[in-house]
Amino acid sequence: MWFKNLAKDVKAAKQNDPAARNTLEILLTYSGVHALIWYRIARFFHKIKLKLIARMISQFARFLTGIEIHPAAKIEGGIFIDHGMGVVIGETAEVHKGTVIYQGVTLGGTGKEHGKRHPTIMENVTLSAGAKVLGGFTVGKGAKIGAGAVVLHEVPPYATVVGVPARIVRIRTPEHEDESTTGVIVTKEHKPLSKEEHERREELAKAAAKQAEENRKK
Ligand SMILES: CC(C)(COP(=O)(O)OP(=O)(O)OC[C@H]1O[C@@H](n2cnc3c(N)ncnc32)[C@H](O)[C@@H]1OP(=O)(O)O)[C@@H](O)C(=O)NCCC(=O)NCCS
Repeated sequence: MWFKNLAKDVKAAKQNDPAARNTLEILLTYSGVHALIWYRIARFFHKIKLKLIARMISQFARFLTGIEIHPAAKIEGGIFIDHGMGVVIGETAEVHKGTVIYQGVTLGGTGKEHGKRHPTIMENVTLSAGAKVLGGFTVGKGAKIGAGAVVLHEVPPYATVVGVPARIVRIRTPEHEDESTTGVIVTKEHKPLSKEEHERREELAKAAAKQAEENRKK
């Protein structure tokens, strides 16, 4: 499992960074990959209830990489943390595969919540440089969070949100998933959808956007 996750992380680095030349270079020089390796070691100790050791490993990894990941956070294999410095991933955060995280991203709490207080990031989300996602809500599959955005509410799938506080500026459809506005390829999968499926998903995305808008007004 450990090696499978490492292989997925290396693959994600290759897919998302045009500058990545080969596996050896990624293993030796990518601090995002190093941070994930340390995180998985810390998580092992956290799971067997050696929580202090887990935290110490996590803090050591932060010293080495500039990336702080709480050992209790749940992170799938196959995410890419680019540049890394200043990334903070909180205790109850979840990050699913295909997600790209740039420098300065915080997956944090607002300070007002208890229990699940950090976000859940679904597959293939782009978290641009300096984005702050604060609270125990979900960022939907394929969403893009603009650089410097402060996200305080649920983000629907395939939505682009920007600004402080973040607002929805676009909702794409899944067949645009491999388009990249950041100069990197988020995913290479490209499966054309039937017209019906396309319309169905657009409806879902619109309903989710409406819901998010209503949440914001509350
Ligand atoms: C959000 C982002 C992903 C672009 O998404 P997009 O779906 O292509 O959106 P667009 O560029 O068409 O912009 C849509 C609107 O949002 C605005 N916008 C885009 N990014 C923004 C940002 N970070 N902050 C504020 N507004 C932003 C645009 O000006 C535009 O506004 P308008 O409709 O009034 O003209 C991109 O702008 C971004 O922030 N990329 C950062 C990538 C990054 O972190 N790179 C670091 C590499 S080291």
